[in-house]
Amino acid sequence: DKAGHKHFMAKEIAEQPRVIGEALRHYLGAEGTDIALPDEIDFTKLDRLTMVACGTAFYACLTAKYWFEQIAGMPVEVDVASEFRYREPPISDRTAALFVSQSGETADTLAALRYCQGKADQILSVVNVPESSIARESDVALPILAGVEIGVASTKAFTCQLTVLLLLALEAAKQRGRMTPERLADLTSHMRALPTVLNAALDEDAAMQACATGLAEAQDVLFLGRGLMYPLALEGALKLKEISYIHAEAYASGELKHGPIALIDRNVPVVVFAPRDSLFEKSVSNMQEVMAREGKVLLISDAAGAKDAAADAWKTITMPAIDPVLAPIVYAIPAQLLAYHTAVAKGTDVDQPRNLAKSVTVE
Ligand code: F6R
Repeated sequence: DKAGHKHFMAKEIAEQPRVIGEALRHYLGAEGTDIALPDEIDFTKLDRLTMVACGTAFYACLTAKYWFEQIAGMPVEVDVASEFRYREPPISDRTAALFVSQSGETADTLAALRYCQGKADQILSVVNVPESSIARESDVALPILAGVEIGVASTKAFTCQLTVLLLLALEAAKQRGRMTPERLADLTSHMRALPTVLNAALDEDAAMQACATGLAEAQDVLFLGRGLMYPLALEGALKLKEISYIHAEAYASGELKHGPIALIDRNVPVVVFAPRDSLFEKSVSNMQEVMAREGKVLLISDAAGAKDAAADAWKTITMPAIDPVLAPIVYAIPAQLLAYHTAVAKGTDVDQPRNLAKSVTVE
């Protein structure tokens, strides 16, 4: 049942305020800063976290690396499961291995989990299907509570993964004495406001649809981001190529001049995720490098950022202002809706893109 939407993907994008609200109620409750996690999760005895996943779930892990390192001071390694499993990486017994998977059945991720059994201190997983193989073979499986996801392109599972991973990072920061009670209270109250903020982001749908008309004519699209926006740029490019079949690549903005800038001309739209945070000025100078080569910049920022930088941009999408820590969850909405509307404009099969399967149970 698409609940009045044209596609399951549109329905699942629209569901995000509600399902994230439910995940927050489950893990955070209505007030206070206590995070409801099983007692076995003890970040004080760990030296590092190793996170492994595929595709969109991998980009959730990459985002979480920034969170764990910046918020909890915890070293994190992240890898795609297909590389990790055959690389035979040494795993110390002061490592927790964390696997992220919507389906809980991805063959490479499951094999990577089995590789870590008996080596890591603990096997954790963040899954949408609690009865799945990955959940069953973990020491602790944390549900993301996204509900059934039908669209092949992952949307609500991604933002629910991010929500649970951020809560885990906050718990790690708390246990390791890395965060003041005030900052923790601040961040948890910002998290409780996420459903409202996400609804405001969804309200920008018409602007995203208008931008998508332009993207639909492109052969190639580049996505740029810095810091927490870099993994999101990767996710935006993946969404676009999956469902619209437009060639899309993402780079860390600072990498632009190390090669990809050679691709820029007037035919290449460049989507820049740049909230007005501490890295904003750097992103603006990357935007200027693109525009100096006639590249078309689609800026996704907040009102403050749009005011400072939108003048020269080809198009601008304005997101609600948000604490920079939470930006990946909010900026996921334009990443998803740009891809969605571009695919709709091109007339592709949004929910069942060619060559893709919802659950990849073979390598
Ligand atoms: C992208 C997408 C895939 C999955 C990947 C992992 O939209 O859906 O990249 O994220 O196949 O799947 P799970 O999370 O089920 O392990």
